[in-house]
Amino acid sequence: MKKISTIKEFRKWRKNISGSIGFVPTMGALHEGHLSLVSKSNNICENTIVSIYINPTQFAEGEDLDTYPQMVQADLDKLSKYEVDCVFLPGNSEMYPEGINVGNYDNNLFDILEGKSRPGFFKGVTTIVAKLFDIVEPTHAFFGEKDFQQFCIIKQMVSDLNYSIEVVPCPIIREENGLAMSSRNKYLTESEYSIAATIFKALESGKKLLKDGELNGDKLKREIYQIIKSEPAFTIDYVSVASGDTLEEFEGELSGDILVSVALFLSKTRLIDNFTYSSPDLHNC
Ligand code: PAF
Repeated sequence: MKKISTIKEFRKWRKNISGSIGFVPTMGALHEGHLSLVSKSNNICENTIVSIYINPTQFAEGEDLDTYPQMVQADLDKLSKYEVDCVFLPGNSEMYPEGINVGNYDNNLFDILEGKSRPGFFKGVTTIVAKLFDIVEPTHAFFGEKDFQQFCIIKQMVSDLNYSIEVVPCPIIREENGLAMSSRNKYLTESEYSIAATIFKALESGKKLLKDGELNGDKLKREIYQIIKSEPAFTIDYVSVASGDTLEEFEGELSGDILVSVALFLSKTRLIDNFTYSSPDLHNC
């Protein structure tokens, strides 16, 4: 497993790599969720490249850039158990040689859901992912569905900017108590960690309503909201029932692909989670 921290050295190494190349971009503090992406890349691609870089442009003022967990040696130890050809570990001067700024790319998914709560977040994400795509030149890139909107935005960017990359979605991996895995879970105290299980319970209850035929999005939201609210420690940012295609909030009856997502704070830790559901096509019944 090669470790490279400069673009120049990476490009020299990359020149001699042929065949399909799976890319897993990360900000480190790797958990089973990240490793499932690596494993999927190993299954699909001949080569796998992982990047570890905490991207400053996707953190707003007052967010956790300075405290974001860093544990590079532990990350490398975990990756060494997989078939990882190269780990790219650049610093800020490599990724932002002209200073910390963002690119021009924008699409119509930037300002809703996560983008509404975290303005500038997707500018930062697309800036760094485009830079990494230009350096790594992968054939496949792997993104977790916990960040469902991020996955949709990257897919759209790949199409808009004509990258020849297949963007592969990977299912959410959960802790034993149902909490979606996230590097930010490291911020949680033991009691917050058990309280956080309520998020999954609320989503599961919402999913059951859908399966039972509920087509009223407001009713679905209320059910999820109330279960989360039963834990006073949560501050809810949003509960959303949106189209899984456009990510626009549903008005009226639910139909087609549905994305149910939540964002909330547990103390200072911001957690997100979601599920997607395809409502049965009534016309075929
Ligand atoms: O999902 C993440 O960890 C980050 O947003 C990403 C894609 C590595 C870009 O910094």
